[in-house]
Amino acid sequence: MKWAIAAVFLLAVCFAGLNAQCPDPSLLKDANGTKLCARLFETSHYYNEQSCGGRTLDAYPGDDSPTLPFVWNNRVSALVVARQCSLTVWSRGKKKGKRKTFSAGIQYRLKDVNQGLFGDWDNDISGYFCEWRRSHASPVPSPAMAAWSFHTTATPFSTLHATEQHTFDKSSSLPCSPT
Ligand SMILES: *[C@@H]1O[C@H](CO)[C@@H](O)[C@H](O)[C@H]1NC(C)=O
Repeated sequence: MKWAIAAVFLLAVCFAGLNAQCPDPSLLKDANGTKLCARLFETSHYYNEQSCGGRTLDAYPGDDSPTLPFVWNNRVSALVVARQCSLTVWSRGKKKGKRKTFSAGIQYRLKDVNQGLFGDWDNDISGYFCEWRRSHASPVPSPAMAAWSFHTTATPFSTLHATEQHTFDKSSSLPCSPT
């Protein structure tokens, strides 16, 4: 019985280790909490829950990388673009070949994304440009924004100062979303 429990436990740990999970486009941050524009992944999977595996390549807002380093050239198989960001990719270096722009969201499998009539984008990205786009969809503030302005008006000045400082530090490299 003990062995059975141990085996089940080990199996669970192994699967947890194998599983990857694509990050939420609205929560895309690097290890230091800096907002990202996009994250590119080395492997994809038939099952969405196991996609976005292998090594990762982080793109910050404004990152322009016309020619990927050798280890990443034609290696990207899945990607996530942050909210309010867009990622343009090219199939050949120096912004040549085919071009495609991804808006915010998860691409679990680039092999499902057509490139021309017969091709796809799996292992075919050679350069990218990632930009933060100001939302022009609706002038109505999001609930997060509304909460933020309520917070700032309701907070005493001394606290507000510290809060603002913190906010600016976090978003100093171009936020992809208003927090
Ligand atoms: C996080 O911050 C440390 C210290 O500033 C830096 O050395 C490191 O490269 C940063 N990591 C990322 C992923 O930006």
